[in-house]
Amino acid sequence: MKWTKKDLIGLENLTSDEILLILDTAQSFISVLNRDIKKVPTLRGITIANLFFEPSTRTKASFELAEKRLSADTLSITVSASSVVKGETLLDTVKNLKSLLCDIVVIRHSYAGAPVLLAEALENMGIVNAGDGMHEHPTQALLDMLTMKHIFGEIKGLNVLIVGDIKHSRVARSNIWGLSKFKCNVGVCAPSSLLPREIDRLAKSFTSLDEAISSAKWDVVMALRIQKERQEDGLFPSLREYHRVYGINVNRLKQLPKKTIIMHPGPVNRGVELSPEVADSSRAVILNQVTNGVAVRMAVLYLISSVLRKG
Ligand code: CP
Repeated sequence: MKWTKKDLIGLENLTSDEILLILDTAQSFISVLNRDIKKVPTLRGITIANLFFEPSTRTKASFELAEKRLSADTLSITVSASSVVKGETLLDTVKNLKSLLCDIVVIRHSYAGAPVLLAEALENMGIVNAGDGMHEHPTQALLDMLTMKHIFGEIKGLNVLIVGDIKHSRVARSNIWGLSKFKCNVGVCAPSSLLPREIDRLAKSFTSLDEAISSAKWDVVMALRIQKERQEDGLFPSLREYHRVYGINVNRLKQLPKKTIIMHPGPVNRGVELSPEVADSSRAVILNQVTNGVAVRMAVLYLISSVLRKG
């Protein structure tokens, strides 16, 4: 299996073989990250710009680390201190980065479709989607799948329940697309106001968490952040009420099989999606997900660079 794409826009358009190639490549980089000197010369000569139009801790830090571990030249543009605030368009900004001989742009943007717009407009430049609006967050789902693979041995056939703000979640969409390629049983659970209309085409949906929990032997329960920045008012009564009805607490954890792991892409709203006891329990693999993010992003940048180098 050979990687042939210069961009990573989402998991919807990847095959299961392409996803496995990224995960296998990430696995080989984990052995690099476990060495005393966590650096290889693989991307020497490649220049990568990180362009984050929305806040980020995990994704931005792990892309930056992935780039440094691979010996790429990197720059991170602070959008609020860039010429974007003077009115420069996204396309002009990235064209200027290309003129500065950047090879790859890692972009997070509130506009769903920003990465694909750039990918189509710019030949010989790699575009990596680090989260676009409510569309996709492919590297998050890839690191989630790598974490599942570590724990369960394979992804095929896993039972995965995604709980929370499905409507606004690019993490949910990328996971649903990715997991469905491996014939996983994916369920989603949220108040009906936080379930997108088209969801029943993609996953079995529940509005009662207790019903969802008892409906299958879930391997994974993935809680999603309530995205206060994308909420219209009145989608649920209050955060306290949300936690009572949809929060994963110790009682609900006890209803789940002993093998069930708890995942969350972060940042966690403690006491909302997860009680602090659950977030800090041995069943939660949230920090393992973060660790795996560096290897997954190294894999994506390595594969894309190999296509760009061939021209
Ligand atoms: N999971 C995730 O995307 O976190 P950040 O917003 O901190 O990057």
